[in-house]
Parts: sequence; structure tokens; C-alpha cells
Amino acid sequence: MTTNKRANFGTKLGVILASAGSAVGLGNIWRFPYMTGEYGGAAFILTYLGCVLLFGAPIMMAEFIIGRRSQSNTARAYQKLAPGTQWRWVGRMGVLAGFLILSYYSVVAGWTLEYMVDSGIGTFADKGPDDFVQFYNSFVSHPWLPVVWTIVFLLLTHFIVVRGVEKGIERSSKVMMPALFILLLILAVCAILLPGAGSGIEFLLKPDFSKVDGSVLLAAMGQAFFSLSVGMGCLCTYASYFKPDTNLPKTAFSVAVIDTLVAILAGFIIFPAAFAVGIQPDSGPGLLFVTLPNVFQQAFGNVPFIAALLAVMFYILLALAALTSTISLHEVVTAYLHEEFNMSRVKAARLVTGGCIVLGTLCSLSLGIGSDYTLFGMTLFDFFDFITAKLMMPLGGFFISLFTGWFLDKKIVREELTNRGTLRLRIYGLIVFLLKFVAPIGIAFIFINELHLI
Ligand code: TRP
Repeated sequence: MTTNKRANFGTKLGVILASAGSAVGLGNIWRFPYMTGEYGGAAFILTYLGCVLLFGAPIMMAEFIIGRRSQSNTARAYQKLAPGTQWRWVGRMGVLAGFLILSYYSVVAGWTLEYMVDSGIGTFADKGPDDFVQFYNSFVSHPWLPVVWTIVFLLLTHFIVVRGVEKGIERSSKVMMPALFILLLILAVCAILLPGAGSGIEFLLKPDFSKVDGSVLLAAMGQAFFSLSVGMGCLCTYASYFKPDTNLPKTAFSVAVIDTLVAILAGFIIFPAAFAVGIQPDSGPGLLFVTLPNVFQQAFGNVPFIAALLAVMFYILLALAALTSTISLHEVVTAYLHEEFNMSRVKAARLVTGGCIVLGTLCSLSLGIGSDYTLFGMTLFDFFDFITAKLMMPLGGFFISLFTGWFLDKKIVREELTNRGTLRLRIYGLIVFLLKFVAPIGIAFIFINELHLI
């Protein structure tokens, strides 16, 4: 791939799958449930859905417009569309955010590999809820095991990114998404049938709006950005590989729907199961990993082979879902270095992987032997999560919506959204309204409310 002849995604399905592959990942299955648990259940979910509709989906379209129009990585995109302005900093901040997210995301992705192996060799057979909690705690604080898995995961990502856009990303998305969805459905049914699952369902469906304060709003907004992969130029970079006939609003809509369904489905696995075995919903980042083994054990424990098989399949699919997300994060930074600094793609990718191995190792250690070193009261792992999901991405989203809503020529916006007039788009006015007013004002309001800027 060179800058003058950029690669393209092969088919229409490929476009949706690659973007959905970026969006669907640990954000849906690991982060969404633990955020929901921490911020009070149903009311958080409704707030989250509002953020997806009002901010996430329109900003995704804005990223698509910027990416396809400029045919560039996210930093150069602004230089092309707004030469000589400071907008390029939005792109640069996105690249930095991508680098930081990739570092700590790979740590959790590495955990899925450990759980895959352990399920396969029968470590979890005959164990109960307390054992799983203990297993999780001793594993994540182990001095080197999670670090090794983090590095393995980053190297896997590295090799796919180096092989190029079309072959790597598209192929890996095609098989895994439907398979993951089916397995999630099966697990949700199993979890809901567990004795005592009812209060988990209530937690998911019965909103208590008295719990919605500024911190819930900020968390829900951060989760929406994180889960949809918007706010840092990831989908902008992907859109630069889209073809002229890709339907941007439809693609954004499909991705948002798929992504949301997967997250909700994950909620219907985790909370019924957590309540059934007495795990607190606000157990933090470990929630998925201490809850899920119970589903396999309790539903299929008397046929250990089936329990192990399903568990291994699940963790493989989860790892693949994480992989299509890490690929997209890696691609943002790699494309930037490759195109801006005249490096070969391989060299750019090596730099990204190397840097993430260093930061990822530190993040992983911050949950164990390094837990005494904190930044603003947070471990490095939590700190990276906080500054990316709750600060950089909403800020990126704010500027992306301002850029597309106010700065970019309306002709360009219309041309891109309607493929130069060949598509009919009834909601064009609505999209522009959301980008011009609702998204920037809403994001600013939540920021000011929570960060106490005034
Ligand atoms: N959205 C992915 C998930 O839910 C993670 C991810 C991939 C991401 N690319 C991103 C998050 C870009 C923020 C920005 O797992």
C-alpha cells in the first residue's frame, strides 16, 4: 500500500464487517457490563443508548465523511480538508489516544488467551464462584504471566497489520462475527435460566433515575465512544479505504445497531449470572472474568467436556473480536507514522508494537506488583482507561462534530452522505442538526457538569 494508491475494502459486506469488527470487542463484552454494574444498571444503559443515538452514530458518520473525502490517515485528513489550520491537532490527539488504548486493551485481550487455555486444560472443572474470584486475582497480579499474554496479543495484531488492509482485516472479520453472536445468544439463554437470575434481569431492565448524576453521564458517554470506536479517528482511517459507492449513513447505522446488540446481549449474560452466584455487579474490570466461568460450570458442569468446549470456543471468539479491534487501533497509528514520516509500513508497525509492549507491560504490572504506583489515585491501567475514554475521545468527538457541522463545506458533507447525490437521504437535515448542535452542546454540557469546570 502506498499513499497515492490506497488499498480498498473489497466488498460492501467487507466494509460493514471491518467497521463492526473494530467496534465490537472487549468494549462490548468486558467493559460495557462492568461499567453498567458500577454505574447502577438500567438507568446507565438508557443513558448509554441516548449517547449512542445522539452523539455516537452522527460522529461516526462525520468520521466517515472526513476519512473518505480526504483519503488519508486521521492527522493528514484535517490538513487536506482544512489546510493551514490547527484542526490537525484533533487528528494527532486521536493517534495518541489510539496508542494508549491499544496498550491497555491488549492487557485484557491477553487475559482472554489465558482463560482460553485454562478452560481447555480443565483448570475450571469442579470449581465454584469463590475459586474463580481467587483465580482471577492471582492471575492478573502475577508478575509475568499476563505480561507474556499481552505481548503475544500485540504480536498477533502486528502480523495482521503488516500483511495489509484488505487481506488481514476483512478476512478475519467475516467468519467470527456471526459465530460470536450465536454463542452469545446461547450463553444468554443459559445465564437467564440459572436459579436466582431474576434479580439480574431486574437490574438490567428497571431504571432508577435517581442514580443518574454527572459521573453516570460521563461514564455512559465514554462507553458509547469507546464501544463504537469513535472520537479518535479510527473509523476515519477505515473510511479512507472505503469505496465511492459505500453508503456512509447506512454503514454507520448498521455498525451502531450491531455494536449495541452485542453489548446488551453481553449484559444479559453477565448480570443474570452474577446475581445467581452472588457476585457484586460493581466488581470492576474483573466482572466478566469472575462471572463467566460460573455460567459454563453451572449450566454444563455435569458434562465437563461440553463445558470446556463451549468455554474454549467463547474465549477464542472473544479473542478474535478483540483482535479485530486491536487491528483497527494499531492501523490508526501505523498509517499515521507510515504516511507522515515516510517510513515503510513494516517499520511503522514495529515502532507501534514496540511502544505498546512497553506501555502494556507497565499497565499489566500496575494491577499487581506495581499497584502502589498511582497517578491521581488510579493505577496506570485505570488511568489510561480514564484519560482515553472519558477525556480524549469525548473531546475528539466534540471537535469532530464541530468540524463537520460548522467548518466543513456543506457541499462536501452532502456529497459524501449521499454519494454525490446518488442516494436519497431523508434524514440529512437531522444528521447535520445533530452534528451542529446536539453533539457539541451535549458533550460540552456533560464535561462541564462532571469535571466541574464552572
Ligand atoms: N470499540 C472497540 C471495543 O468495543 C475498541 C476499539 C477499537 C476502540 N478501536 C477503537 C475504542 C478506537 C476507541 C477508539 O472493544
